[in-house]
Amino acid sequence: MIVKSIKLKNFRNFEELNIELNDVLNIFIGDNGQGKTNLLESIYLCSIGKTFKLNTENDLIKFGQNNFEIEIVVNKGNKENKTINIAYMKNQNRIVKINGVKLDKNSELIGYMNNVIFTPDDLKIVKGSPIERRKFVNIDISQIKPKYKYLLKNYKKIVLGRNNILKNLNNNSNREVLSIWDDYLIDVGSEIIFYRNEYINKLKYEASKIYSDISDNKESFDLSYKCDIGNVENLSKDDIKKIFREKIEKNIENEIFRKNSLHGPHKDDITIKINNKDFKYFGSQGQQRSAVLAIKLGEIEIIKNEIGEYPILLLDDVLSELDNKRKGFLIDYIKDIQTIITSTDDTDLKDLVKKNDKKIFHICEGRIERNEETCQN
Ligand SMILES: Nc1ncnc2c1ncn2[C@@H]1O[C@H](COP(=O)(O)OP(=O)(O)O)[C@@H](O)[C@H]1O
Ligand SMILES: [Mg+2]
Repeated sequence: MIVKSIKLKNFRNFEELNIELNDVLNIFIGDNGQGKTNLLESIYLCSIGKTFKLNTENDLIKFGQNNFEIEIVVNKGNKENKTINIAYMKNQNRIVKINGVKLDKNSELIGYMNNVIFTPDDLKIVKGSPIERRKFVNIDISQIKPKYKYLLKNYKKIVLGRNNILKNLNNNSNREVLSIWDDYLIDVGSEIIFYRNEYINKLKYEASKIYSDISDNKESFDLSYKCDIGNVENLSKDDIKKIFREKIEKNIENEIFRKNSLHGPHKDDITIKINNKDFKYFGSQGQQRSAVLAIKLGEIEIIKNEIGEYPILLLDDVLSELDNKRKGFLIDYIKDIQTIITSTDDTDLKDLVKKNDKKIFHICEGRIERNEETCQN
């Protein structure tokens, strides 16, 4: 998958941007606060449909303006180029178009362009709370299984609805109502668990292979699904439902006492281990960075297996965080993947990517000041 061009209008600190990308490697160099992450955010928005920052849509409009527009031309599967267009007017609904045709539902955008983003914040996958790990798994699965996003949305509503019943449970008739909500929770929750189980298994396989290569086969890496309702390894959807029901039945009195849904995929986690020890507590900085790198590259492989081609890789300021060996590994790994790298400094980058066909953009205050193109055959 290749992003051919990006046009921005009044998006974040870009008044007007119009660039054509290299099919392989694109490097954006600039000081802090110049718009490098904002540019990646515009690509992410066209791919996932939402931003990776905690902002409202109004925040995306350039200060002092009333609307923004993004237009990205993408090529998927060597077919005809597709133009993705997002237009947003302050306090109004977003309008998303593909080749000039408005989508009925903005969520239909997912799938036209796939990306994997790697930022320094991703260390949270290893070091952060279970919420961070659930978030990253949710985004990943949503990209390749459109139904998953819908299940998550539904599940969230079910947990809220069920909690409401638990809070107001004071007579037998409500108990009957509760059992209906149990069924909803188990039905939708089991599907989520099924998808997660499948995805995490694939990630474990891909990321372990990559981690082995990064560590020259010296360390073992393991990643496993810590499913709240119990061990669901190799289980069918029906078997997952059975375990989920047993878990609910066994703990229902406690849930009633606590007035809260205590079990289900909203309590899931992933365990990441190196040489059989939990990474979170025992991994060195370097090992944790290798783990995140392996997970990110693993995500790329899963998307490739799923859709038949590599997603676009966005590397936001991560190279400076890696030592030379890991940097070299990464640069070597991405040679067949269209990649957009941002960095404040290009001194070591230029050496590392000597051989690649690439385009370098210098970015300052939301403008491209100059670009260099190198193509070596
Ligand atoms: N809606 C907005 N309008 C104008 N400028 C914005 C907006 N949102 C963020 N910015 C500016 O964008 C800059 C940060 O851009 P960013 O892409 O994060 O920089 P970096 O190059 O360090 O990645 C800051 O100067 C911030 O004030
Ligand atoms: Mg940045």
